[in-house]
Amino acid sequence: MERPIWAPHGIDLSVPSVSRIYDYYLGGSHNFEVDREAGRRAVDAFPGLPKIMQANRAFMRRAVRYAVGQGVTQFLDIGSGIPTFGNVHEIAQAAAPEARVVYVDHDPVAIAHSRAVLAGDERTDIVAADLRTPHDILAAEEVARLLDLRRPVALLLVAVLHFTEDRDEPWKAVAELRDALAPGSLLILTHASTDEGPMKPEEGEEVQGVYRRVGSPLLMRSKGDVARFFEGFELLEPGLVPISAWRPDVDDDSAECAGYAGVGRKP
Ligand SMILES: C[S@@+](CC[C@H](N)C(=O)[O-])C[C@H]1O[C@@H](n2cnc3c(N)ncnc32)[C@H](O)[C@@H]1O
Repeated sequence: MERPIWAPHGIDLSVPSVSRIYDYYLGGSHNFEVDREAGRRAVDAFPGLPKIMQANRAFMRRAVRYAVGQGVTQFLDIGSGIPTFGNVHEIAQAAAPEARVVYVDHDPVAIAHSRAVLAGDERTDIVAADLRTPHDILAAEEVARLLDLRRPVALLLVAVLHFTEDRDEPWKAVAELRDALAPGSLLILTHASTDEGPMKPEEGEEVQGVYRRVGSPLLMRSKGDVARFFEGFELLEPGLVPISAWRPDVDDDSAECAGYAGVGRKP
């Protein structure tokens, strides 16, 4: 297969990637046939999947605006994905032009496309790093240059923690990030789950199977296990709730939605 101009050298075009499958669900153009094939298999298992992704993006926008409303204008968005309409820096800077955003992802296409989109933006940058090694993120030059960790930061872990396995100790990684942040910082999080909402456990198992087969396991965690990510944060109203139930806007589609969303504040 020919490598399109936006795809960096060295990536394997025959292996689907989480970020490109997600780009496909959202109607983006940075995906290959292997990604679309995996995406179609997951949608076959649960046809409501693209709607959940849209609800996830809508939550992210609401939570970013909420953070700016609370005076938090620094953002660390880990697992930021391939830039698409309504990215964190666009939402944040529309509400507060001085807002600063550091994106983090480990996917080469997400990194390359972010660099292209962000060229010339002095208040936003992307770090190539892995959530499972938070030290590398915190030590990144971009973080030191753009974020003042003595002041509150909104840490976004949106639709990314379900790509970590328990043996990766994701709770420990989140705690390390929390410890590096100033009081008043926010944790903005979504996570896949079949606990509540329309996705039956057997449909969830099929969706998980698609990701397992492409080598990027996705874990539907219980509400209790998702709540543990908020250790050391005060969970803000309305708590950990189905994604579309978190402070919905009047014009948001409030369709029943699998997965949890929550925002916590570090005291
Ligand atoms: C489903 S997308 C979510 C994108 C964006 N946060 C959103 O909600 O619209 C998940 C992203 O997390 C990234 N990701 C998965 N595991 C990661 C890890 N261990 N470290 C950094 N990024 C990771 C993937 O490459 C992908 O771009």
